[in-house]
Amino acid sequence: MSRARSTPLLSVEGVSHYYRDAHPVHALEAVTLQAWPGEFVTLVGPSGCGKSTLLRILGGLIHPTRGEVRFAGERLQGPRPDIGMVFQHANLMPWRTVLANILLPLEIAGVPRKEAEARARDMLRLVGLEGFENAYPRQLSGGMQQRVALARALVRSPRLLLLDEPFGALDALTRERMNLELLRIWAHHRQTAVMVTHSIPEAVFVSDRVLVMTPRPGRIAGEVVVDLPRPRRLDMMATAAFGRLTQAVRALIDPDTQ
Ligand SMILES: Nc1ncnc2c1ncn2[C@@H]1O[C@H](COP(=O)(O)OP(=O)(O)OP(=O)(O)O)[C@@H](O)[C@H]1O
Ligand SMILES: [Mg+2]
Repeated sequence: MSRARSTPLLSVEGVSHYYRDAHPVHALEAVTLQAWPGEFVTLVGPSGCGKSTLLRILGGLIHPTRGEVRFAGERLQGPRPDIGMVFQHANLMPWRTVLANILLPLEIAGVPRKEAEARARDMLRLVGLEGFENAYPRQLSGGMQQRVALARALVRSPRLLLLDEPFGALDALTRERMNLELLRIWAHHRQTAVMVTHSIPEAVFVSDRVLVMTPRPGRIAGEVVVDLPRPRRLDMMATAAFGRLTQAVRALIDPDTQ
C-alpha cells in the first residue's frame, strides 16, 4: 500500500474531548491519526484513557469538543451507514431471531425484503452461523452472539469497521479463535478497520499498525508497524519477530519500566 499516493479513509485532526457532567472529565487531548483504505489499525492503552470515547467519535456517535474527523474527505457529522460498529457486548435484540437481528439495519434502510434476506443470509454464512438463523440470542454462546453483531455491522458493506473490545468478554481460547475468524471475515472485503483492545498480543496479531495511547487525557504515545505476513496464523505468536513487536508496544505503554 503506497501511502504517498493514496489518501486516508479516516483522518482525525487534533481531537480533544471533555465530558461536562457533574464529574467533568478531560478524556482526549489533541489526538491525530489516520487510517488508510484496507488498513487494520488497533488502539491500545490503559483503562479509562479514552479509547471508547475516541471510537464513538470515529463512529459519529459523539461530537468532539475540539478538532475534527474526516471520513472519505468529508467532515464527519454523525453516524453513517458506511461505518459499522461492534461493541464489547453484542447488544442484540432478544426478541428477534439471529436472522432478524442481522436484517435490522437493512429494514431501517428500506432495502426490499428479498434482497435484504439474501444479503443477511450471505453474512450469516460468512460468520459461520448457518443453521442458526431462527435461533434467539439467548440460545447462543458469547462468541456466537459476537458473530451476529459482526454480521449486523457488515451487512450494509461498510467502508469502515469500528470494533470496541469485541471479544473482551470471552474466555482466552474463544478469543483467539475469534481473532482468527475476524481476520478471515475481514480478508473478504478488507474494510478499513479500527479496533480497541486491552491485549497487546491481540493487537499485534490482528493489526497492520498498533497505536498506543497515554493515560487520560488520552493522546497518541506512538505507533508500532506490524510487518508480519498475512494471513496470520496462531503459531506466529511464538516467533521472535512477534515477541519484538509486543515488546515495542509495551515499551510505549510503560516507558518507565523498560
Ligand atoms: N458518557 C460519559 N460521561 C461522562 N464521562 C464519561 C463518559 N464516558 C466515559 N467517560 C469518562 O471518560 C474517560 C474515558 O472513558 P472511556 O470509556 O473512553 O475509556 P476507555 O479507554 O475505553 O476505558 P476502558 O479500557 O476501561 O474501556 C473515563 O474517565 C470515563 O469515566
Ligand atoms: Mg472502553
